[in-house]
Amino acid sequence: MLVTGKDILVPARAGKYGVGAFNTNNMEITQAIIHTAEKLRSPVIVQMSEGAIKYGGQDLANIVKDLATRATVPVALHLDHGSSYESCLKAIKMGFTSVMIDASHHPFEENVAETRRVVEAAHIMGISVEAELGRLGGIEEHIVVDEKDAFLTDPEEAVQFIEQTGTDYLAIAIGTSHGAYKGKGRPYIDQARIARIGELTTIPLVAHGSSGVPAEITRRFREAGGEIGDAVGIADDDLREACQHGIAKVNVDTDLRLASTVGIREVLKNTPKEFDPRKIFGLAREVMSQIVEHKMGVLGSVGKA
Ligand code: G3H
Ligand code: 13P
Ligand code: NA
Ligand code: ZN
Repeated sequence: MLVTGKDILVPARAGKYGVGAFNTNNMEITQAIIHTAEKLRSPVIVQMSEGAIKYGGQDLANIVKDLATRATVPVALHLDHGSSYESCLKAIKMGFTSVMIDASHHPFEENVAETRRVVEAAHIMGISVEAELGRLGGIEEHIVVDEKDAFLTDPEEAVQFIEQTGTDYLAIAIGTSHGAYKGKGRPYIDQARIARIGELTTIPLVAHGSSGVPAEITRRFREAGGEIGDAVGIADDDLREACQHGIAKVNVDTDLRLASTVGIREVLKNTPKEFDPRKIFGLAREVMSQIVEHKMGVLGSVGKA
């Protein structure tokens, strides 16, 4: 069933598990996400960025909504990194049940004002809202506290921000970054900060940049002819711990991008005569489903629907 983000995330925060919010850009990605959720009896969030809307538009939103409506587990359709009030309203008109207003690059007061505007409009229509406070970006474990404080989310500010905006869930900057290169070794994530923000707040918290970039996937990527540097993601154990402290929405895009490319590359490399799209995209869909399954296991959402 198609539900709001809040319907999915409030129980997750209360139950100390995470729900994967996976980015989609086509039918196969959407199927991998929703069919795996169904198989594992897990709630799930499917998200489209503004780039995904530009690429797939209402056609893609309708595919997500149709699969979500026919699913027997809760599914939300979420706007990822909405850049303006107008963008959020456009997504709501397209049938999204959850929107993110990302005004985190603005000063605190402007972030509050822009978020507040979106919350007021979205709530009238029964749609839930994600906002962001702090700056995403990888940090080194050894850097001094003052430097971390410059862009990671301040716990006291988070409390004020939630009070002043009425946002339904909050993305916090805890050291993660987008993409396949999140740092060196085991990328640092600030668990103490998550725990502190978790203590001071009750709404679900959101972790962006949560792909794991599994070594097995990067190995297969290279093996099939792809080129990738020192790619590394967030360790499974670090996500498990974060979900104990208030993280309820866990954003994953990069892992599905890598998985689909691995599937496509392997078919093309191993069967050079193949040109049936169902074979080429079919393996991609399967590798993506395995990623989704693994992530749902790590986050603890299996069997929660
Ligand atoms: O956070 C960014 C997501 O990975 C979406 O990326 O804007 O290229 O669709 P995109
Ligand atoms: P990854 O790049 O780690 O997959 O993060 C995706 C994300 O945060 C989308 O908003
Ligand atoms: Na988002
Ligand atoms: Zn993000």
